[in-house]
Amino acid sequence: MARTARAYTNIALIKYWGKKDKALKLPWTSSLSLTLDKFYTDTKSTIIDNDHDVVYLNDELLDDSSSLRIRNYLDVVRKMYGFNDHLQINSTNHVPLSAGFASSASGFAALAASVNETMNLNLSNKEISILARNGSGSATRSIYGGFVEWIAGNSNETSFAEPIDENPDIDIVLLSVVISEAEKSISSTKGMELSVKTSPFYSNWSTLVASEIIKIKQAIANKDLQQIGEIAEHNALSMHALTLSAQPPYTYFAPETIRIIQIVKTLRQQGFLAYVTIDAGPNVKIICSKQSVKAVKDYLDKNVQNVSTFEAHIGKGIQYF
Ligand code: PMV
Repeated sequence: MARTARAYTNIALIKYWGKKDKALKLPWTSSLSLTLDKFYTDTKSTIIDNDHDVVYLNDELLDDSSSLRIRNYLDVVRKMYGFNDHLQINSTNHVPLSAGFASSASGFAALAASVNETMNLNLSNKEISILARNGSGSATRSIYGGFVEWIAGNSNETSFAEPIDENPDIDIVLLSVVISEAEKSISSTKGMELSVKTSPFYSNWSTLVASEIIKIKQAIANKDLQQIGEIAEHNALSMHALTLSAQPPYTYFAPETIRIIQIVKTLRQQGFLAYVTIDAGPNVKIICSKQSVKAVKDYLDKNVQNVSTFEAHIGKGIQYF
């Protein structure tokens, strides 16, 4: 009996923003993330005697339109590994929408690992990472725990994640500040496309990312949380500059997003270790130390209405049970 695969979500400290190959999801730049505990997806797949795949999410059968992305992905996997079987996928998402994280990273990482199990593909973690990338870019990194780098590469075989430190002894806590649970107005795929094609700053993005990856890896090696935070915040805000400078311009920020950015700056001036990072949505993730997280949370609870906070710590790579 094939085992269930569990993959955790990750937060990019150096963002992936732009595809050079849309079908293969090859990024223009490498990226670097921290895998988080708490939020994860469990997926089990079973071979079925059927001419199409069947997908259950949180015990509910998905209709054709809701399961389309997963079924298309399974077509890609069948083609890559030369099998014809159809599968029943049972996925349980422990990534509540309300926690402000997208579930595609843990979702496609768990799915890739689960298909590897069920079809006895005997893939290495590197190959599972490649397989996950074909589902969603950010899923490439969720194969490993701790700090992970996704090497951009330039072909299906050369674009995969590598662990930097799976069990880092770093005092890092990620506080997710949830402003809105609504679907993002512009998908990350669309947003990336617009930035790549029209932002006059996109040509600088590769150079910036390359130098920030070197710097943040050094900061990780030095266990220097303040440096990690500074670099991650600068990288995230630079990514969002690529949205505001696109034509037509767009932004994922809500008014509260800016407010939280300002609050975090104020808290820093008061001596608390806190830096923001923001993905393709309005919610803000605050990089804190174990020491600062309580003060940051208390300040937000007292001063900002209608937001909720979730604490996450360093998470593990793919697990099977
Ligand atoms: O993998 P996608 O298509 O969900 O894109 C992820 C984009 C960001 O979350 C903004 C950055 C990243 O590297 O995860």
